[in-house]
Amino acid sequence: MEEKKLVDLLSDLKHRIFPRPFERLAVSGKRLVGVEIGVYKGLHAASLLEHLDIERLYLVDPYEMYREYEEGKTHYGIDQDPLYLARKEAAERLAPHASKVTWVYKKSVEASSEIPEGLDFVYVDGNHAEAFVSADILSFYPKIRPGGVLGGHDFYNGFCREHDGVIRAVTKFAIQHDLPLQVELPDWWIRK
Ligand SMILES: C[S@@+](CC[C@H](N)C(=O)[O-])C[C@H]1O[C@@H](n2cnc3c(N)ncnc32)[C@H](O)[C@@H]1O
Repeated sequence: MEEKKLVDLLSDLKHRIFPRPFERLAVSGKRLVGVEIGVYKGLHAASLLEHLDIERLYLVDPYEMYREYEEGKTHYGIDQDPLYLARKEAAERLAPHASKVTWVYKKSVEASSEIPEGLDFVYVDGNHAEAFVSADILSFYPKIRPGGVLGGHDFYNGFCREHDGVIRAVTKFAIQHDLPLQVELPDWWIRK
């Protein structure tokens, strides 16, 4: 196989392997309270629930094709149907964990007022444009307890430049606040 195809395949595989580095390496402890921003079909939410000791997981996703969601239009098309189907699939997939899950069907920044303080972790994987990732970080970092973890997906996608905004937003935040950034692809995280 030619080199580029092999690199693309390996990058793609890293996204499909669960548990991801975030739940393997970044987060531990008992009775955790956390948030996932951007849930889609619930694959990673299921992994969080299966691999961590979770008391409550807030799942934030509007399942809405809004005007500024450019990458969404590329991946899911411009109409609502794929996201409605994803919402249904996520609800079915996560039904066995329903007692531990609180759904917030809103965009992340609007949802943040419904999320409590003192979180053990937040995983950012919603709109990957730089401005949206920065807004997610600014809205949710203050809600994390000291020692808790802010992290997310798609720090680097060798095969997919559309996620470069994640690298910019996360790196700027880490440098501005002099925080140690850890990366184990495809995830990133910062311990507060
Ligand atoms: C890449 S998918 C999430 C995949 C999921 N975290 C996983 O790994 O299984 C991105 C999701 O983010 C959602 N999304 C887009 N903009 C958002 C926003 N502003 N706030 C929260 N979620 C958003 C989309 O509806 C979509 O379901």
